[in-house]
Amino acid sequence: MEGEGAHLAFKSRWHKTDEELCRHSMSFILHKAIRNDFFQSYLCLLERLPLVKLYALTSEVINGEMQFYARAKHFYREVPATEEGMMGDYIELSSTDIESSREFLRKFVGGPGKAGTDRALDCGSGIGRVTKHVLLPVFKSVELVDMMENFLDEAQNYLQCKENRVKMYYCYSLQEFTPAPQKYDVIWMQWVSGYLTDKDLLEFLIRCQNGLKDNGVVILKDNVAREGCILDPLDSSVIRDLSILRSLIEKSGLTILWQERQEGFPEQCIPVWTLAMQKDAGLS
Ligand SMILES: C[S@@+](CC[C@H](N)C(=O)[O-])C[C@H]1O[C@@H](n2cnc3c(N)ncnc32)[C@H](O)[C@@H]1O
Repeated sequence: MEGEGAHLAFKSRWHKTDEELCRHSMSFILHKAIRNDFFQSYLCLLERLPLVKLYALTSEVINGEMQFYARAKHFYREVPATEEGMMGDYIELSSTDIESSREFLRKFVGGPGKAGTDRALDCGSGIGRVTKHVLLPVFKSVELVDMMENFLDEAQNYLQCKENRVKMYYCYSLQEFTPAPQKYDVIWMQWVSGYLTDKDLLEFLIRCQNGLKDNGVVILKDNVAREGCILDPLDSSVIRDLSILRSLIEKSGLTILWQERQEGFPEQCIPVWTLAMQKDAGLS
């Protein structure tokens, strides 16, 4: 609590200084650099995290963690349990997305030294669009986790013909969910990482690591900002730039194997990137 008070006090003071300094002067640039270092150090103490590149930390933009999560839930109550709903009205991009995801997955699964094909976990699955088109064609069984009960209910219809291979529907928020140890060949997280704060994403990635079998991979696909960390107040999510995302992943102990930008989306769309990551061979 003491820490939070300090955070607010310093934040308002720095904010005022920002307004008063000439934005193009060297002193402004220096001021910003010092401020970033300063925030990194004391947030490190506050959040008990070793230094990640925290300069665009979610706690600076989300305006309170409880509200951040509550607003996202509120938003999804109004979202239809359909493919259109899952694609946020960009349904025309779904087949390009699926095709690229399938190709991406082939690089890491099924073959010597690659992940196995027994079981995958679809995180922030919604109704199971990724499960249906990307995961079920490859894995013997798939499990889904999402915070919205109505999406998981609909998933049982939507995935009907393949239902006996969908083993579990977990109705949990990812920040409260722990994948069972060493259970999954692939843990897929698509268009959901932005709903977690830095701290919760980092901790979730650490738990995912424990959920992987040998050679297992975590695959994260999401919108990526050109710079910094941007709040989308409409659905209460953040969009991180690639360096922030990478530093959170690296901090979790996972090693990034590959990253690639989604091709074939219109230029005006926010860039989408897919990253594959694995736990260190030495850590099991
Ligand atoms: C844009 S939809 C994407 C659904 C699916 N991944 C896809 O690509 O079709 C985002 C999903 O994330 C879920 N979600 C948002 N915040 C979450 C959280 N904190 N924990 C678990 N699920 C969450 C929503 O309920 C929704 O189903």
